[in-house]
Amino acid sequence: MGEVKLNHNMNVLDFGCGTGLVTLQLQPSVRTITGADSSHGMLDVVRSKIEERKLTNVKTEFIDLEKGVVLKNKYHLVVSSMTLHHVEDLGYIFHEFYNGVLSGGHLCIADLDSDGGDFHRDKTGVVHFGFDRSEMRRLFMQGGFQDVRDVTAAAVVKDLPDGTVREFTVFLMTGRK
Ligand SMILES: C[S@@+](CC[C@H](N)C(=O)[O-])C[C@H]1O[C@@H](n2cnc3c(N)ncnc32)[C@H](O)[C@@H]1O
Repeated sequence: MGEVKLNHNMNVLDFGCGTGLVTLQLQPSVRTITGADSSHGMLDVVRSKIEERKLTNVKTEFIDLEKGVVLKNKYHLVVSSMTLHHVEDLGYIFHEFYNGVLSGGHLCIADLDSDGGDFHRDKTGVVHFGFDRSEMRRLFMQGGFQDVRDVTAAAVVKDLPDGTVREFTVFLMTGRK
């Protein structure tokens, strides 16, 4: 996960896990991983994958930090992929992430660089058209995280409605508590 070395002593939270793509990719390399989401439907999909693969170190949890639900546990690593662009109150989320990370632990956020609204054709539930990295870095630092670093983690090429093709990049930003 970027700058963070995974190990089998780690308890990890994947916030906004969706169908568990990232959760299940990290699962073999850590002690436990909790997939958290505000959609019961998404969590049902993750649970069916856990059952099918007979995984014993993956948990699921319903969490909607936007509704004031707080993190119950502390983790060595909190990851969140392609979720923060759906979240209105980022200051609160970063406050909760800080509370949810053990001292010396890390927060890793992957999301879209500013996309001008072109990435999502259906903008339902999209509250940020990607992020400016300096703004995201400010959120990490105001949230209390140190050693904040970022890399370009992926690029997605999409056909736009006007017939043009555009590449969208995804950053991975990491900070330490
Ligand atoms: C685009 S999906 C990303 C899924 C997965 N992380 C991935 O990278 O494939 C965004 C997910 O964030 C969840 N989500 C949106 N707002 C949330 C909130 N306030 N609390 C928890 N999950 C949220 C949605 O239900 C959805 O499953």
